[in-house]
Amino acid sequence: MKTFQKTLIAAAAVVLSTAALAQTQAKLKVGLMLPYTGTYAALGNAIENGFRLYVAEQGGKLAGRELEFFKVDDESAPPKATDNVNKLVKRDHVDVLIGSVHSGVAMAMAKVAKDTNTLLIVPNGGADAITGPMCAPNIFRSSFSNWQPGFAMGEVAAKKGHKTAVTITWKYAAGDESVAGFKEAFEKGGGKIVKQLTLPFPNEEFQVLLTEIAAAKPDAVYTFFAGASAVKFVKDYAAAGLKKNIPLYGPGFITDGTLEAQGESAEGLFTTLHYADSLNTKRDNEFRLSYAKTYKLQPDVYAVQGYDAAQMLAIGLKAVNGDVSKKAEFAAALEKAKIDSPRGPFMISKAHNPVQDFYLRQVSNKENKMIGIAVKGLADPARGCKM
Ligand code: BEZ
Repeated sequence: MKTFQKTLIAAAAVVLSTAALAQTQAKLKVGLMLPYTGTYAALGNAIENGFRLYVAEQGGKLAGRELEFFKVDDESAPPKATDNVNKLVKRDHVDVLIGSVHSGVAMAMAKVAKDTNTLLIVPNGGADAITGPMCAPNIFRSSFSNWQPGFAMGEVAAKKGHKTAVTITWKYAAGDESVAGFKEAFEKGGGKIVKQLTLPFPNEEFQVLLTEIAAAKPDAVYTFFAGASAVKFVKDYAAAGLKKNIPLYGPGFITDGTLEAQGESAEGLFTTLHYADSLNTKRDNEFRLSYAKTYKLQPDVYAVQGYDAAQMLAIGLKAVNGDVSKKAEFAAALEKAKIDSPRGPFMISKAHNPVQDFYLRQVSNKENKMIGIAVKGLADPARGCKM
């Protein structure tokens, strides 16, 4: 090779490595796509609080990079979700997407993330498809799949000896898949679902359906609602006189972040979730204290999921020295990491969804008290994931 060619190659290498260095030293652009209005607004805020708390604990930087936030209120509206996520990806050129709460919105984000090879960490939206046919090397979840807490509660309800159940939920992925998880375990344990009641998201006109439940007289009711609508449903169920005759079960979303508003109507309810208020571990106590001091609020499962999304981002970034273009190395680091979550340590599955314990909780004095482990180390079956 001639000296001139060698000099050219060396110069090009310097330009490239300087560009890479400049990129890893620039601020990391984080796109937060969450609901800040509507029935899930409190969930979106708790996720952002948790995310920012972890970053603050690291001195405001992850893997040496400062963060710059770009925010979109997705309104829990799937029809607007593709346009919204494209604002973050194509207009703001974010390095990583964090979102969202609603399964339909999370699926739209996963599609765009997959098509554009953008990193995505889902801090709530449980759509089973994200751990199934939509799974991808650049997509991770710090929360759960809808199937998981439903399945855990199906086992609990069957073990309690209930033989019949009515389900009631919104007609969209989260409700349908939560009920399907419950049904799978409940029927395996000898139970039968006698009626599946639904209403469109985010409708809260529960009265007619509550009358149907009273007429069906099942042994138990399983429900999925969350946020402000979970408050209304639990109150309406008690006010209709059903609570004292037909036990109400659900994933922990029906009582997480809602207990102050639900008051007496939630006392005694059993739920299953990957978090509880009284874990009383050193890790969780420190997290809860730090969260309460910072936000003058008690944390809930959504805050934990936001906090862990930031932890997961930090683990991946550290492995690639802040260079998000190294997607394979980023994923490899997360696949072998044990995430030190306030919920208890967990690892992610091959499909990038947490494998975690599901606690059985009971509401007592406005707390979701942990009374045992419903299912240990539960992994979503990742049906249809090819990765
Ligand atoms: C969902 O849409 O996946 C969801 C929303 C709120 C709580 C849990 C799941």
